[in-house]
Amino acid sequence: MFETPAFSNAETRPDQSDTPMWLFGYGSLIYKTGFAFKTRRPASIKGWTRRFWQGSHDHRGTLEAPGRVATLVPQKEAVCHGMAYLITPDVLEGLDVREKNGYLRVVTDLYFDDGTCGEALVYMATEGNEAWLGEASVLEIAQQISTAVGPSGPNRDYLLMLADSIREMGHDDTHVEAIEQALLALEAGVDRS
Ligand code: SIN
Repeated sequence: MFETPAFSNAETRPDQSDTPMWLFGYGSLIYKTGFAFKTRRPASIKGWTRRFWQGSHDHRGTLEAPGRVATLVPQKEAVCHGMAYLITPDVLEGLDVREKNGYLRVVTDLYFDDGTCGEALVYMATEGNEAWLGEASVLEIAQQISTAVGPSGPNRDYLLMLADSIREMGHDDTHVEAIEQALLALEAGVDRS
């Protein structure tokens, strides 16, 4: 099991040189940038799978009624598709604030869709962080997402925009798609229990 690193993002911030680095996004960072980047390329990381197991108190929910957002959990042979951004280190200060609800930066190997490789920073929220919710059924996750709202908007929009973005990049994510279908069925009043 991946151990939560015992350090903060501020302590691990790379030196403030202008050397560009890759940042891999797999959740809202795919469809909502709001930060400066030089270029972006579809890419993936290996050994991690996307899961709606992280709570959101500050973006897509509140402390009293948390939303559910994506994090990565270790899974052998898994491939997680997302978007890689070439950024400069100064961008990390703003990103650390945006991802402050439990996410820590980790460095991992990066595989671009064109077959080339590199290394990237990725924000991960690991088990035991203050907003961690963990595993639940597809229906439970969809129900929670259907009602949660936070300062960044309805939790449903996060899910639907992420599902659309993954499809637009030409990939499938069965976990995200199952929750999307369950949410749309709930909204249409279809009983799938
Ligand atoms: C990411 O998108 O890479 C991190 C999680 C999020 O902000 O949704």
